[in-house]
Amino acid sequence: MKFIKAGIVLLATIHMNASAQTVTDQKMNKFVDALMAKMTLDEKIGQLNLPQAGDFTTGQASSSNIAQKIQEGSVGGLFNIKGVEKIKDVQKIAVEKSRLKIPLIFGMDVIHGYQTTFPIPLGLSCSWDMPLIERSARVAAIEASAQGINWTFSPMVDISRDARWGRAAEGSGEDPFLGSAIAQAMVRGYQGDDLSRKNTIMACVKHFALYGAAEAGRDYNTTDMSHVRMYNEYFPPYKAAVDAGAGSVMASFNEVDGVPATANRWLMTEVLRNQWKFNGFVVTDYTGIPEMIAHGLGDLKTVSALSLKAGVDMDMVGEGFLGTIKESLKEGTLTEDQINMACRRILEAKYKLGLFDDPYRYCDVKRGKTEVFTPAFRKEARQTATQSFVLLKNDNVLPLKKQGTIALVGPLADAAENMTGTWSVAAEFSKSVSVIQGLKRAVADKAKILYAKGANLTEDAKLEENATMFGKTLHRDGRTTEDLKQEALKIAAQADVIVAAMGESAEMSGESSSRTNLDIPDVQKDLLKELLKTGKPVVLLLFCGRPMTISWESKNVPAILNVWFGGSEAGDAIADVLFGDVNPSGKLSMSFPQSVGQLPFYYAQKNTGRPLPEGKWFEKFRSNYLDVSNDAVYPFGYGLSYTTFEYSQIKLSDTTINRGGSITASVRVSNKGNHDGKEVVQLYIRDMVGSITRPVKELKGFKKISLKPGESQDVSFTINEELLKFYNGDLKYVAEPGAFKLFIGTNSRDLSEANFNLL
Ligand code: NOJ
Repeated sequence: MKFIKAGIVLLATIHMNASAQTVTDQKMNKFVDALMAKMTLDEKIGQLNLPQAGDFTTGQASSSNIAQKIQEGSVGGLFNIKGVEKIKDVQKIAVEKSRLKIPLIFGMDVIHGYQTTFPIPLGLSCSWDMPLIERSARVAAIEASAQGINWTFSPMVDISRDARWGRAAEGSGEDPFLGSAIAQAMVRGYQGDDLSRKNTIMACVKHFALYGAAEAGRDYNTTDMSHVRMYNEYFPPYKAAVDAGAGSVMASFNEVDGVPATANRWLMTEVLRNQWKFNGFVVTDYTGIPEMIAHGLGDLKTVSALSLKAGVDMDMVGEGFLGTIKESLKEGTLTEDQINMACRRILEAKYKLGLFDDPYRYCDVKRGKTEVFTPAFRKEARQTATQSFVLLKNDNVLPLKKQGTIALVGPLADAAENMTGTWSVAAEFSKSVSVIQGLKRAVADKAKILYAKGANLTEDAKLEENATMFGKTLHRDGRTTEDLKQEALKIAAQADVIVAAMGESAEMSGESSSRTNLDIPDVQKDLLKELLKTGKPVVLLLFCGRPMTISWESKNVPAILNVWFGGSEAGDAIADVLFGDVNPSGKLSMSFPQSVGQLPFYYAQKNTGRPLPEGKWFEKFRSNYLDVSNDAVYPFGYGLSYTTFEYSQIKLSDTTINRGGSITASVRVSNKGNHDGKEVVQLYIRDMVGSITRPVKELKGFKKISLKPGESQDVSFTINEELLKFYNGDLKYVAEPGAFKLFIGTNSRDLSEANFNLL
């Protein structure tokens, strides 16, 4: 066992060798063969069914709506039930009252922590710290498994390049290289090396595929893209998660090549199983099967058969499999082998989770009480949150001193319920640490904190209601906008510095929260302008679940700290960074555009035939806009520190790479400031000439280092043929000979460069 600082036990890394794996597989096959030999067709179809649990109180499971179905053997699993006792009760029905006693699998959207909540995934990805991310998934797995959950609908690895799409909050941003590394870290964190351990859970990679490319950033909308783009830019994180051994995959709602993913045989069988060798099971998204009626693919019977034939194994909520595939079998549109195959994959998942050995393996009521929301986990979540914040601007305002009077203003300042952000199914919102609590705790009696809300989230009460759902209220203030503003200005007048906690509410991003306007809501922005007029230093603490359009703020506010939604410990973590107990080191994983008109926006663009000449932002008949430059306000990879890092010129060990060979690129990075600091050193590569057009640069490596003031470190990257490969026009994964540019630096914009050739 290996212990980490916060006292969390990581699993020992035990790699099973190939022959041990074969023996395990043989045992599993034998077990599943024997079980399936006893199953009726109806029982097999029952395993493919994943209904909602419905609402029932502890101890009442046997009289709930679902009990009868479980008893009949028509349910394979349930999801989003919270409470180990409740889960135990339901499992009891399956293993004591159903004919074959097949245990249920219990899923949940454990997206960024269970009860101890970590930053929203987009924030987490800005840490660029894989061990940290893995540990956050590990903590989530320990807590969730302690309360009966053995399957999580995470990681969400959809590449997002359109900030209008609210679900950008749930993923790791715009880049396939970073996204792939994170996908693997999450799978490792959830599953460990042995799924049958009591504290590991099965991952479900979602949403396969291309969900993040919804047209116009509108959720559930159509996607359409070339296969070279899919393979080079959108598929890598899904594949990386599969390579890391993810046990299950969730189909996306959208269509791919005109066929919804849920019925797309090319995607689910050719790509996922034949090309990537995935051997787990595929579940639909919520009502993914019946939604294909609205997509226009036919009636429930038709779409259910299409889905099963495509390679989908489990039907979430739709009851298309349960209700229709027996008839399709009779009519000959399906074969019994297809049903058997899906059933087998689900039974295998249960076997791997150890449920046949002990169906109550994850139902340890004692663990459920002692291993959740522990001080060690909360400490880990607090540290993790500090690593997710991105310092966007700092004109000598931060870190703040713990002295004098601080005016804390804004609708997110006293908003415990909003700190966890979207998708925090198991969190207890009121237990989260708000900004005001965190700041007060940090300064104790050394400084005075004055608070005024200053403004509601938005002027429009209806919009605020839609954006504060699921108990995440911002306690809308009934006073007039003017009264709220005046109260804030009054405390601002008494303060030495103003901290403005503003931006989006937790539910302004996430599922079904697409937006067309990504500005800070007007009523808050007006207040910010008034606060700036006081001439006092203002820090904007920006809460958001996606990049926002903050051109104006970037020019006019002296300090901006982007804090996303930092999780249950957000308030303490914010205080840690504001007062300099922790030096910020987060780097954006998604570019901040100047305007929604630039979306979709990403740094790894193509050059086009009419690129802008260097140093210009507009030229007629070039690829640009009349009204704004092509630049980001804050580019991918960007993030400041309280210290300053200096990069040396790049040193290449050689300027030629032979086939099978490699070269090294290195830089010396020095901490020239006065604070200990962490820096993410980034490597980008551009393939200058190819058989298909290649992006102007692509992230190909990164290293996060820690330096004390005055310290330097050499950071090197190995460049080999493998790193230069891409899918060509025939979808062959190749590295083509010729000239390359290599860039190293502190973000995707501020880089120095060198040249090399691949022979
Ligand atoms: C719909 C969402 O798209 C998916 O991400 C989630 O896992 C399921 N609902 C289950 O809650």
